[in-house]
Parts: sequence; structure tokens; C-alpha cells
Amino acid sequence: MSQAKQIAVLAGDGIGREVIAEAIKVLSACGAAVETTGFDWGAARYLADGVTVPADGFAMLERDFDAILVGAFGDPRVPTNIHAKQILLGMRFRMDLYANVRPVRLLDSGLGPLKGVEPKDLDFVVIRENTEGAYVDAGGVFKQGTDEEVAIQEDINTRKGVERIIRYAFDYCEKHTKLDGSPRKRVLMSDKSNAMTHAGGLWQRVFKEVSRDYPQIKAEHMYVDALCLQMVRDPRQFDVIVTNNMFGDILTDLAAGLQGGLGMAASGNIHPGKTSMFEPVHGSAPPIAGKNIANPMGAMLTSAMMLNHLGLTVEAARIERAVLEAVRQKKTTQDIGGALGTREVGDWVANHLCIADNAERRC
Ligand code: NAD
Ligand code: IPM
Ligand code: MN
Repeated sequence: MSQAKQIAVLAGDGIGREVIAEAIKVLSACGAAVETTGFDWGAARYLADGVTVPADGFAMLERDFDAILVGAFGDPRVPTNIHAKQILLGMRFRMDLYANVRPVRLLDSGLGPLKGVEPKDLDFVVIRENTEGAYVDAGGVFKQGTDEEVAIQEDINTRKGVERIIRYAFDYCEKHTKLDGSPRKRVLMSDKSNAMTHAGGLWQRVFKEVSRDYPQIKAEHMYVDALCLQMVRDPRQFDVIVTNNMFGDILTDLAAGLQGGLGMAASGNIHPGKTSMFEPVHGSAPPIAGKNIANPMGAMLTSAMMLNHLGLTVEAARIERAVLEAVRQKKTTQDIGGALGTREVGDWVANHLCIADNAERRC
């Protein structure tokens, strides 16, 4: 029987397809015992036969795969974005992948926009609630098309949902070290409880309660508007940040800017013990799709995150080292200052993995 971990690959649309092709190149070059199976879910399939997620699709992913690697969904030919909603948010919601873990790291000082911020200064993680909030899309419109139109978008926060994500953040803080090996020590909860008092009140109460179970971890709070300022002013102060679905979405694009742009940011959508899903933070970027200029490093670092999650830590570290080396040698796409194309970055990193680990591996 094969011991290889089974990976479902949903490359999706636009640059998602391009960056995932390179992540797969690198996955096979790193020597990890994984087998990949591709699925064509995405805009083209939807436009061809109307299917977004085939019947039994989520159950199949959960039953037959150890992890899911995703590119991005979004295509101007599908202005409703219905396929992205059903596939991407479908996985998050229906497979109950409640923790969206988005590490924020600076691989090289040349990458970030902030003066004086070095790799040692930027090493925090945003834990984003992934199954509730404004994203459940509860609400409706009334008197549509009239002057009296009403649009209601509910923000749903359950005790169970808030508690499990806050607990996840404290557990994460307890179990993970920083890149330099030092312990993580602080969890900061961010909300807008000064204005949105009902949801914010619940987050505040649960945060206080859960933090009592972790006396060794410093529990902190910051309103999300102030957090935006502080992230840009001095990101050294952050360790683990926990927040709701929408704030987490917005903050992690901002945080991606600190890392060198969306092309560098990785994420995992996790439910401990269940088949989890890994995707770069960026979208399908239609204006740059098909031009071989998208940065594949976020997707590569995402595949390393997936390997770590599957316990293949040696291979994950190899990928991270190879990406770092490519950054140092400027073997990168234009968005971070290099002159290579998407495919050429993939070839370079894959080749570097082969050379660096030649003694152990087959390529
Ligand atoms: P986007 O992330 O696609 O692009 C934002 C900006 O970042 C653009 O300037 C783009 O060129 C740049 N960029 C993104 N990834 C890059 C990369 N790898 N290399 C170089 N530059 C990169 O966000 P958007 O433009 O708001 O959305 C485009 C489509 O993607 C929309 O349909 C949106 O809904 C969808 N989207 C999907 C996901 C996902 O599936 N996970 C995430 C975000 C957005
Ligand atoms: C992300 C994306 C998605 C989100 C979109 C495509 C629905 O922006 O993964 O960050 O908002 O969660
Ligand atoms: Mn986003």
C-alpha cells in the first residue's frame, strides 16, 4: 500500500493555474511522498457545463484526500462570482475549516516596504475566523430597484465559533515558535467592539474567558482601525493576532504588503484532524493572467505549509530554504524586483532543490 499523502489540487482560475503549476514542480522536486490529483473546478468548467462543485464533491475531498492545494477563483466572465463562492467558501464552510492561518514573514530585508524592518522584525501570524461573520451571506434585499431599497448583510457570531477560533489562537501561540526558535508569547484579539457592540461584546467576553486558561500567554486587544496603523508603523510588536472573518481578510492583504506583496503570502484553512485546504492569499489577478509574470512564491510557500501540516517537515523546510535562496539571488518575478517569468522561477527553485539535496533524491 502506498504511504504517499494524497493531495487534491484545485488550481482554479487566472494566475491560480500558473502559480499552482510551479508549486507542483517544487513539490515533486522536494522529495515529499505525495501524490497529486487535479480537479477542473473553476470558471471554465462552470461556463462549460454549469457545475461549480460536482455532487458529493466536498465529501469526496474529505474522504479521499489528506489535504487540498488551491490556486484562486475569480473570472471576469462570471461576474456574480458564484463559482468562487460555491467552491472556495464552500470548502471553508461545508468542510468546517474554521481556522484561516496566515503567517506574515519577511524572507529578506530587500522585500519589504518599511525602512529598517528586517526579517527578524516581521514574524507574526493572523488567525482569521473562517466560517462565520459577514461571510455567511445572511440577509437580503427589500424593494430592490426602488428609491426605498433596503440591503441587509448580517454579521453572524456564535459562541461556539468565537470560542474555538480564540482557543485555536492560544493553542497556536503555545505550540509554535518564531522562525528564530524563540517562543511565541502574546495573542492579540482585534475587533470593532467600540461600534459593533453586540458581536464585539461576545468576542470580548470569550477572549477574556479563554485567556484565563493560558496564564503564560499575554492577552492583548486592539481595535482593528488602530491595528492597521500599528501594522504599518511598527510590525515588530505583533505575535499572534486573532480576528473575525472580514477583518482577517482585509488585514492579511495589508500584511502581505509588508512581506513583499500578495505574491509572497501563504495560508492554510484548517480544521484540526480533518482534511484541510491550503492556498496563497492572493486572487486570480485577471489583468496579469496568462502573461507568465505572476509570482509563484506564495503558492510554493503554501505548499510548504501544507507539507508541515502533514508532518513532512523536512521537505517543507527544503522548499522554504530554496525559495529564500531564490529571493537572495534575485531569481524572482518582477513584482519583487527580479527579471524571471513565473515558469522560470519554478524551474530555478525546483532545480535548486535537486542540486541542494542531490545525495538523497532522484531528480
Ligand atoms: P488579486 O489578489 O487577484 O490581485 C490584487 C493585486 O495583486 C493585483 O494588482 C495583482 O496583479 C497583484 N497580485 C496578486 N497576486 C499576485 C502574484 N502572485 N504575483 C504578482 N502580483 C500579484 O485580488 P483582486 O484583483 O481583488 O481579485 C481578482 C479576482 O480574484 C476576483 O475575482 C477576486 O474575487 C478573486 N480572489 C480570489 C481569491 C481566492 O480564490 N483565494 C483571493 C482573492 C481574490
Ligand atoms: C481570500 C479572498 C476571499 C475572501 C474571496 C475570494 C471570497 O479574498 O481568501 O482572502 O474574502 O476570503
Ligand atoms: Mn482576501
